[in-house]
Amino acid sequence: MTLCDHHTTTEAPVSPNAPTADILSTHERLMLEQERTLTTPRRRPTPIASVLFVTMDLLYGRRRTLQKFLVLELIARVPYQTWEHAAYIKITRKARHTQVARRIYDRVCRAREQQDNEQWHLFILEDTLEHRQQHLGWFRFRLLPQVIAFTYYAVSWVLYLVRPAWSYRLNADFEDHAEHEYAVFIAEHPELEDERCSCTIAADYGVFDSLADVLRQISLDERHHKNESLDDLDRELTSREARRQQRREARSARPGSSAPRSTPTTEMELP
Ligand SMILES: [Fe+2]
Ligand SMILES: [Fe+2]
Repeated sequence: MTLCDHHTTTEAPVSPNAPTADILSTHERLMLEQERTLTTPRRRPTPIASVLFVTMDLLYGRRRTLQKFLVLELIARVPYQTWEHAAYIKITRKARHTQVARRIYDRVCRAREQQDNEQWHLFILEDTLEHRQQHLGWFRFRLLPQVIAFTYYAVSWVLYLVRPAWSYRLNADFEDHAEHEYAVFIAEHPELEDERCSCTIAADYGVFDSLADVLRQISLDERHHKNESLDDLDRELTSREARRQQRREARSARPGSSAPRSTPTTEMELP
C-alpha cells in the first residue's frame, strides 16, 4: 500500500459497553475512543523507552504542544524504516525459500503501511503549525530531531538484530506513549473542538468536524500501531519458543544424548 492510497488506519472497535458503533457519528465514536485511552493505564516503559521520553521532556519541555508532537512523529517513522531495511536484507538471504521470503515481505508491507500513516500525521502537524504561523526553530525542530531519529534508528537496528522482540516492545511503548499524550492533549485544550483542520491533506487523511477529532483519530492510529507491534512481539516470542523446542528435541534425539526428552518421564516409567 502506498502513501497515496493510505489514509487512516483500520478502525479499532469501540468499547463493548458502548452503544453500537454504526449508530454513532464519527465525532461520538472518536470521543469514546479517547475516553477509552484515558481510562486505560499506560504501559510500563522499558528503560530505553524511559530514556527517550525523559530526553524529549528535557529538550522540548514536559508540556504537551503541537511542536513536540511534530518531533514525536518524525521519530515515530524510524522503527518501521529499520524493520523494512532489515527485512529486505533477510529476503535477499532467503530468496530461494520463497515461502519464508513471502512471509518476511508481508511484514515489510505492514511496516510500510504504518510508516506511511506516521507520515500523514507529520503532514497534518506541519500544516497545522504553518497555518497557525508558529515559528519552528531550525536547530530544535529540524536538526535536533534528525539527530534523535538517527540515534533511535541505530538503537532499533541493534535491538532488532540481537532480538526482534526487544525492538517490537520498544515500539509498543513508544506508540502507547503517543496514544496517551494525544488523548491528554485534546482533553487539556477544549478550544480545539472549535478549530477546523486547515491541513491541505485533510481530504486524503479523512474529513473531521474539528482539529480535536483529527488528533483523536491520530491517537487511535497510534493505538493501532501499538497493537500491531504487540502482535509482532507475540509472533516473535511464539516462533522463538518453537525454535527452542525444536533444538531441544533434536538434541534429545541424538544417540547417546543425556538431554531430557521433550515428553516428561514420570517416576513410574523409570527403569
Ligand atoms: Fe503518529
Ligand atoms: Fe504511531
